[in-house]
Amino acid sequence: MQMTYDKFAITLHWLMALLIILMIIMGYQLDELSPEELANNLSWHSGTGVLLLILATIRLWWRYAHSPPPYPNSMSILKKRTAITVVHGFYFLMFLQPIVGLVQAMVYKSVEIRLFGVFGVGWLRELDKMWLDIFSMIHSIGAGALSLFVMFHLGAALKHRFIDRDEIMGRMSPFKRAHKSK
Ligand code: HEM
Repeated sequence: MQMTYDKFAITLHWLMALLIILMIIMGYQLDELSPEELANNLSWHSGTGVLLLILATIRLWWRYAHSPPPYPNSMSILKKRTAITVVHGFYFLMFLQPIVGLVQAMVYKSVEIRLFGVFGVGWLRELDKMWLDIFSMIHSIGAGALSLFVMFHLGAALKHRFIDRDEIMGRMSPFKRAHKSK
């Protein structure tokens, strides 16, 4: 049985992890910008966010088509259940956050948002500002939840690597060669 994720899943995992962390950092800095900088940064933020939505769809497809490697027997049932709940939470947020962000970009008022500066999405700009406030609030809560999940996930991965010293980190490591159990 395969004991690590395959190369495709590992590449997708680290690419998405990097982009999500960049998006969170970039998102929290948007308030402090001049209108021109805001338009420019939002075009990159929104374009990268839509790219993440496409990558999340590919990842979900991969997850349905493949079984993940099993957790080690040394992990308690409670820890396995917690890990599975966190994974489900990640999938939920990986879709919710960019979808809500996209709708927010459609109703955004201050500047017209163009994905990567090219493709304008301000189709719903005439809608009442109340809608912008609602989507903005959900996007902000989603960003907070995603930040907490990333920190928890990172903390758990480091604990497995340096305290429990089990093979959990190796399952997603780009540096470890895949091995098979008997
Ligand atoms: C995983 C994907 C995404 C993450 C992690 C993310 C993260 C963030 C964060 C942290 C903020 C600041 C929230 C706050 O101030 O409380 C933000 C704001 C924003 N994001 Fe995203 N975002 C994502 C996807 C998207 C997408 C796909 C779009 C549009 C297509 C988008 C459009 C916006 C807009 C318009 C704002 C508000 C800027 C403002 O209020 O001036 N985001 N995002």
